[in-house]
Amino acid sequence: MHHTTPARRPAGRRAAERVLILGGDGFCGWPTALHLSAAGYEVAIVDNLSRRKIDVELEVDSLTPIRPMSERLAAWEAVSGRRIVFHRFDVARNYQRLLDLLVDWRPEAIVHFAEQRAAPYSMKSAWHKRYTMDNNLGATNTLLAALVESGVDAHIVHLGTMGVYGYGSAGMKIPEGYLTVHVETDDGDMARDEILYPVNPGSVYHLTKTQDQLAFAFYNKNDGIRITDLHQGIVWGTQTEETRLDERLINRFDYDGDYGTVLNRFLMQAAIGHPLTVHGTGGQTRAFIHIQDTVRCVALAIGNPPATGERVRIYNQMTETHRIRDLATRIAAQTGAAIDHVQNPRVEAAENDLHVANDALIALGLKPTTLATGLFTEVTEIAARYAHRCDKRRIACRSQWRRTGHAEVTMSTARNTATTDPLIQPI
Ligand SMILES: NC(=O)c1ccc[n+]([C@@H]2O[C@H](COP(=O)([O-])OP(=O)(O)OC[C@H]3O[C@@H](n4cnc5c(N)ncnc54)[C@H](O)[C@@H]3O)[C@@H](O)[C@H]2O)c1
Repeated sequence: MHHTTPARRPAGRRAAERVLILGGDGFCGWPTALHLSAAGYEVAIVDNLSRRKIDVELEVDSLTPIRPMSERLAAWEAVSGRRIVFHRFDVARNYQRLLDLLVDWRPEAIVHFAEQRAAPYSMKSAWHKRYTMDNNLGATNTLLAALVESGVDAHIVHLGTMGVYGYGSAGMKIPEGYLTVHVETDDGDMARDEILYPVNPGSVYHLTKTQDQLAFAFYNKNDGIRITDLHQGIVWGTQTEETRLDERLINRFDYDGDYGTVLNRFLMQAAIGHPLTVHGTGGQTRAFIHIQDTVRCVALAIGNPPATGERVRIYNQMTETHRIRDLATRIAAQTGAAIDHVQNPRVEAAENDLHVANDALIALGLKPTTLATGLFTEVTEIAARYAHRCDKRRIACRSQWRRTGHAEVTMSTARNTATTDPLIQPI
């Protein structure tokens, strides 16, 4: 086991000392909690463990052996000498618990990861659509309403997605959240304005994120809540400086058809000698960011909060864009894997370009980990090392965006349509 000396707090008061992390047991939340704790913040986590219960529902498991929360926290204390407090409750439903926590603990920053985040999962059945909407919009609105009632002036840092923009941009670079528009007024003058970039959700999950944006705009305007919304690309990679310190701190790695994001699925497929399954032509272009950069970006956002009265800040949190078939070719070249083009379950254009502005986080000091440098570590440290834990039956994406009457759709939804599914009832 490695021991680290906890980072010393810099002299003078920082923008935040106490950070509450909603969804702090998840893929992005856990390494963020450790990163902020190592940087000297007092950290508390809220999570209802719904993500772990969804693994039970889908009959999958993280490729990496993630530990129960109490073991994670004890390991972190042993390694770093720092404590993280854990509160287990549902942010979408347990208003009073959240309100009491805000009033008692008075965090200066709240990082909001507590949402159902898989697009394929959100499209599995009517039950999953309703669960994703209720959970995600419920969590966001509960947080905003509780913050207003508590009178606590905490800065919310929310994880949104690049997917709110849709995956096309009429040839222009997608700006950071706001679009400048020129409108002809009734008397023939040209008025200039800035509006939220028109949304174009591609799944119920993305729909919830587009609606989160409106909730933020409203509470910001009406109640002066300070918010940074990070429109994140697809996160790849597993470990960060902190999660690497001890195997009990290991981060989750999802490779299944619902939660495994494209790069992780390719890596897994390569490690077990399965062909890389490219949806359609693989001409879809997506934005990516490494998990190490995710945690750095959240820390940068916390350290640079909006001023009182400032509108919602929106940053595009991504570092590179790639076409899916190029990713497959790159991984195939490194690992010798074959490539298999399968039918695309999503309703989307076969080919798209994506140009994205990401100047804000780079200006704050982000130095990206690129695919060119980080991919090899990921293949050897994670995919190959834990390949024996992979359940090959779970790799294919079985959610369909439209009902087709296809046997596979019926099979994948039948198990999950009951509104009383006990496995993912929020606590
Ligand atoms: N992983 C990515 O590639 C990616 C990309 C873009 C945006 N994001 C966003 O970042 C956030 C975190 O994503 P992730 O990959 O860590 O997902 P995750 O599912 O691993 O983590 C989310 C965590 O929130 C918890 N949670 C969900 N609903 C809750 C509720 N109502 N109350 C309490 N806890 C709740 C879950 O148990 C889980 O631990 C999400 O909002 C997601 O939309 C992720």
